[in-house]
Amino acid sequence: MHAPSERWIQAATKAGPEDVTVLCGRDKSLTHRAVMFASLASGMSRIHHPLLGADCLSTMDCFRALGVRIEQPRADQLVVLSQGFKRFQQPTQALDCGNSGTTARLITGILAAQDGLTCELIGDASLSQRPMRRVVEPLRAMGAHIEGHDNGHLLPIRIQGRLLQARSHEVDKASAQVKSALLLAGLFCPGTTAVKLPAGSRDHTERMLQRMGAKIERREQAGYEEVCVTGPFVPIASEFVIPVDPSSAAFFAVMGLLRPVGRLTLPHVLNNPTRIGFLRVLQRMSGAITLTLEEDRRYAEPVMRIQAEGGKVLRATDIQAHEVPTLVDEIPILAVAAAFADGPSRFSGLEELRVKESDRLTKTAELLRLAGSDVRIEGDDLWIGGGLREVQAFRYDSVGDHRLAMAAAILARRCKKPCCILDPECVRVSFPDFYEVLETV
Ligand code: S3P
Repeated sequence: MHAPSERWIQAATKAGPEDVTVLCGRDKSLTHRAVMFASLASGMSRIHHPLLGADCLSTMDCFRALGVRIEQPRADQLVVLSQGFKRFQQPTQALDCGNSGTTARLITGILAAQDGLTCELIGDASLSQRPMRRVVEPLRAMGAHIEGHDNGHLLPIRIQGRLLQARSHEVDKASAQVKSALLLAGLFCPGTTAVKLPAGSRDHTERMLQRMGAKIERREQAGYEEVCVTGPFVPIASEFVIPVDPSSAAFFAVMGLLRPVGRLTLPHVLNNPTRIGFLRVLQRMSGAITLTLEEDRRYAEPVMRIQAEGGKVLRATDIQAHEVPTLVDEIPILAVAAAFADGPSRFSGLEELRVKESDRLTKTAELLRLAGSDVRIEGDDLWIGGGLREVQAFRYDSVGDHRLAMAAAILARRCKKPCCILDPECVRVSFPDFYEVLETV
């Protein structure tokens, strides 16, 4: 085995402009779904400003293996030419989902319902340890035929597509991937497929399907939501315009707050309530975040400009378990912010972090500890002492988890000495030019 590569990050040596504008990577969740829905439709779809990160490339490769043509006529555009899901081809090789949980889980829902197709799904070492049971078992309850490692609960799995039966599901996690996989399977079944789950998970699947004409209904009550789709539905070829990913912008929003002076502006960021819990937390921590809606009708969802002003005191804050679904990917960078706050913070209900691209709960605590912060894991909670002044130089293994590598890089920029990140290139999963963008601030 090769030793992992490393990258040294240093605080800026000379003062740059105080006010800077940073264009972050485009949205990963929306790009995945645009590629999937365009592939299901018959005809030509266009995706403007797609994220061409490794995860979305995995989704594109899976659909290419099913016979869909996906071309990139311009740097900022994909053209998807499909004959529709009814004419998907039998793949000749296993579909490789790489590091991408969204690819693996959503495509399982789609493929389970494709009568006559048999597909094998594989992934990298990290994805092969992440739970598939959460989608496989409810799909089996609809009649899906899935077998594989650990009774089909871990990749590799083999999916023999067949006609499924619509039914109602109750899911105990606020997971958009599970909700989406079941709704996507339900698209192809006559009748209504319903998914009831704790509220708060991202709602892009239901919004996009509804815009494409699918019959979707949603009710929310007492902390739960129920989303229903009535099939069968045939998606139509569409145009998609992808805004900036709030999960990528979060790193620079925190960096803006941690700068001693100046205003950092982040344009064209997706403004969806299920994605921006981190902004509500940062607003509680400081009066230094402002949001301005952008009037741009090309985007299907609202977009905004985020401004973060440096040099303000950050107040400690707690994150409650019910908030976690709306900021699940932002915990590592919010923990970095909390390390600099004026007192202790507690982030509660983080059990899902243990099954992300790495055990992010343990690895986030390790990062803060290496940097000299007082931090503890208590059950599924993260307690962060706050008050960090001088960041200790650290050498941190990202274990190939993109969000940990980026959180470490933002923290390293606050250290007077150079810090080292192992396996730094994993940022390509969601934000391929992260380090180049970081250099501009
Ligand atoms: C995603 C859902 C979330 C999130 C992931 C992307 C999606 O996962 O962490 O990065 O695009 O549906 P869960 O559904 O497992 O919470």
